[in-house]
Amino acid sequence: MLSKRLQAICDFVTPNSKVVDIGADHGLVDIYLTKNKNCQCLATDISAKSLEKAKENIKKAGVSVKTLVTDGLEGIELTDETLIISGMGTHTILKILNKKITNDLVICTHNKVSLLRKKLQKKGYYIKDEKVIFDKFYYVIGYYKYGQGPRINNYVSPFLINNIEYMRYLLNKYQIKFIHEKKFLVKLKYHLIIKKIKKHVK
Ligand SMILES: C[S@@+](CC[C@H](N)C(=O)[O-])C[C@H]1O[C@@H](n2cnc3c(N)ncnc32)[C@H](O)[C@@H]1O
Repeated sequence: MLSKRLQAICDFVTPNSKVVDIGADHGLVDIYLTKNKNCQCLATDISAKSLEKAKENIKKAGVSVKTLVTDGLEGIELTDETLIISGMGTHTILKILNKKITNDLVICTHNKVSLLRKKLQKKGYYIKDEKVIFDKFYYVIGYYKYGQGPRINNYVSPFLINNIEYMRYLLNKYQIKFIHEKKFLVKLKYHLIIKKIKKHVK
């Protein structure tokens, strides 16, 4: 069975689609998507050792998933694939997405989700949906599409405002940042974020 985080990633992928999973590591996402959603998957990783794990799991599962050792999107031609990037930090993700564009992205960053939203919305993507999963930490999983669409706030996502526990976590995080911040403009930014979050947390 997949973890809640990996399941949430798979839930955003359209059945029968082509998928490139960057940093596939164990390959569990690709196995699930091939078995349950009839997707054609390419599982990649920068580490040959990690990809060996994926190959073993793929063999055990008895499914057909292609694998490739490569850094990010190097050597990969994209047409209409859904790109999955999960389990890396925002700076690595943005570096990987620097040169190529694809219509559908499913992304789960380890950190700086507001920076990810900001940069990808600037790059021409809109956020179609987001989910937040708690699995020791909070993970935000975003489904991004390239093209025209509503811009969302980088800090307070309309898709997540009904998750009161998560909103309380965010409130606490920005209140601490506000207290410790010395620069006036950054403090003001945190003040505005806190005000926005408070509208949803009673
Ligand atoms: C923490 S694992 C995440 C595995 C899986 N995607 C998940 O979310 O559970 C991160 C993986 O990304 C790989 N990775 C890191 N930087 C990469 C890059 N630039 N290109 C491809 N893979 C990368 C690592 O080798 C590692 O196997």
